[in-house]
Amino acid sequence: MNDIIHQSVIELAEKMQLPERIVNIGELPWVPFTDNESCFFKPLRFDLSTGTWIYLFKIKSNQALGRHRHTGGSVIGYNIQGKWGYEGREWTATPGTFIFEPPGDIHTLLTGDEEVITLFILSGTLQYFDDNNQIVGQDDIYTVLKKYHHYCEQNGIAIREDLVY
Ligand SMILES: [Fe+2]
Repeated sequence: MNDIIHQSVIELAEKMQLPERIVNIGELPWVPFTDNESCFFKPLRFDLSTGTWIYLFKIKSNQALGRHRHTGGSVIGYNIQGKWGYEGREWTATPGTFIFEPPGDIHTLLTGDEEVITLFILSGTLQYFDDNNQIVGQDDIYTVLKKYHHYCEQNGIAIREDLVY
């Protein structure tokens, strides 16, 4: 008998562990992220203990998303569809590209001729800059959660409370 993980530990985990979370993407709406509806998201997780959120992000073709800085957290991305990059950088994300951006990074996201879909895991805050490096807006886990709630309320869609954990 393998006693490295004692039966009592397994039972304790079964008693205390968080429930599984299963989300099928077709069950979630595309929520507008910006007022001009250049990008949308499907929320997958809001982790209120760390301020980390996960969403599937869709950006229309030939867009430039406002220059912004990530602070208090990093960006992890996995591109699924389309091509995109950050202005002035050498690389281009294509389907299958994994991206890590450290806290403090400032970038402007540019999409190509195709609609982009990327899975993003973010934490901290996005600070939006004007041309003079003045902060003109920001997003964080609560503004994203608010966008989701607002869209559901406006469209008679049930809010998935199980996305918060
Ligand atoms: Fe960013």
